Amino acid sequence: MDANGHANGSSPHEVREHDVLIIGAGGAGLRAAVAATERGLSVGVVTKSLLGKAHTVMAEGGIAASLGNVDPADGWQTHFKDTLKSGKFINNWRMAELFSKEAPDRVYELEQWGALFNRTAEGKISQRPFGAHTYRRLCHVGDRTGLELIRTMQEKVLATDTQVYMETAVTKLFKNSEGRVVGALAYTRETGKFIHFKTKAVVLATGGWGRIYKVTSNSWEGTGDGAVLAYDAGAELVDMEMVQFHPTGMVWPPGVRGLLVTEGVRGEGGLLRNSKGERYMERYDKERMELSSRDVVARANYTEVQEGRGSPHGGVFLDITHLGYRGIMKKLPTMHEQFLKLADIDISKEPMEVFPTIHYTMGGVKVDPETCATNVPGLFAAGEVAGGLHGANRLGGNSLSDLLVFGRRAGMGAAEYVKSNGYSTEIREEELNAEKKRVMAPLEKREGENPYKIQQELQETMMEHANLMRNEDSLKEGLGKVLALKDRLPNIGVGGSTLFNPGWHTAQDVRHLIQISEIIIRCALERTERRGAQWRLDYDGPDEELGRVNLISKKDQQGEVGIEKREIPPMPEHLAKLFEEGE
Ligand code: FUM
Repeated sequence: MDANGHANGSSPHEVREHDVLIIGAGGAGLRAAVAATERGLSVGVVTKSLLGKAHTVMAEGGIAASLGNVDPADGWQTHFKDTLKSGKFINNWRMAELFSKEAPDRVYELEQWGALFNRTAEGKISQRPFGAHTYRRLCHVGDRTGLELIRTMQEKVLATDTQVYMETAVTKLFKNSEGRVVGALAYTRETGKFIHFKTKAVVLATGGWGRIYKVTSNSWEGTGDGAVLAYDAGAELVDMEMVQFHPTGMVWPPGVRGLLVTEGVRGEGGLLRNSKGERYMERYDKERMELSSRDVVARANYTEVQEGRGSPHGGVFLDITHLGYRGIMKKLPTMHEQFLKLADIDISKEPMEVFPTIHYTMGGVKVDPETCATNVPGLFAAGEVAGGLHGANRLGGNSLSDLLVFGRRAGMGAAEYVKSNGYSTEIREEELNAEKKRVMAPLEKREGENPYKIQQELQETMMEHANLMRNEDSLKEGLGKVLALKDRLPNIGVGGSTLFNPGWHTAQDVRHLIQISEIIIRCALERTERRGAQWRLDYDGPDEELGRVNLISKKDQQGEVGIEKREIPPMPEHLAKLFEEGE
């Protein structure tokens, strides 16, 4: 019997049907929902959290798009080149082309839908500088841009017939006899009741997996569910070793360690200093200084602390006092409030203490640039869960435009697929029951291992062995620890029932966290070079051969992680020649 008194696997479930099921309600999921409903389809959006609460809000400083409002010389070509250069040329160039060409339209569309951007003196959308963007390119709403994006998209979606399932976690995707994704099993977190979603297409928009680390800007939802659902369904993942450490997270007090300090602070002239008062970025990137790319600034901050020039709580100083109270309240009001309320620091009077925090995952589900289709029929992905656009390092501000450009494309791609294919959404009852049984298993082992403990050990392992500086010995040791944790997964047991049971939810999440961590470490072992976020201390620099490949991970026949080095197709003439034209 299971915890609800039903024979194993026979717990009842509701059935819900939609043409397109979108998993995730951040910016990408909501933009996909708008695109699919506009095409007359019935859409369900499932979110593990509450509508409006997504990691999208943590992209505070702005949306990158080459409107050219303050720097008229900007254009899609420069945005494209900046994105490729920052990604160290392992980006999917077609995604980067579509992205940089379409980002301005997505910003204007957002404005038409009600987003209230900061303005220039002439009333245009204001754009601020950000790390490694050639021009002032970040369209912003103070330091709450992601929040405004979500608010706007939420209103847009609520005006449609889209049905939103909040606090609902998906555990598995189902395929029909033709191998098409045609459904999912989910449970509502409040009650534990199961829902079998029947659908003709699924769009994954579940965000990243920052929670595999102890110090992260991600909140509890960032457990990589979408990537594991895709991997389990046979989808390919690309460049999973690429994990972004944002240079500036809070360090003090301990309860808020990792909370984001927006790059907007440096965009508005914030200066980084060490305990000796040196503007140490001179030693790491003399030209761009604080506005160097994120990988460079994060490593610089880390190195200063490692070498004994850190601040009292183990960070570096970030100083924006020169902007004054009025300037800060105009441009960075959230940062002012955040430091005052959480750390008792008035940033108009004293510097902040900051240190790198895991913020974003460049790797993810491999998709077709035009439609966001994966290699599994009926499965699409967009936003942070998808990989390819950002290569080895993402430019700040590129994630908000990414999720609008590719959220829309995924919604359109899924709609087109649904309209041009007729097939059954039936699956075998045994498959459904087996999955329910698997999900319920921790409740039947009350004396089993505590999932929180496993999660904590994993986060410490990843912090220690797959941090922003890596080497073979440490990665191998880390992999051994992760695999040992994986072996302990069947021992997990939790008390209580399916009602309001966070322990049971963690038991589900921790499987995803462990699977992703294993893939990341295996890929980090394969990429034996220094490239963007993958910084191998046991190698001197980038490797020419590895610069021509993406690492593709896929579940093999034995259910193990298979990794292939796949050649990146050559850039077409019209794009390649952009790099010959100076700059
Ligand atoms: O620092 C920030 O405001 C984050 C932006 C981003 O990740 O795109």
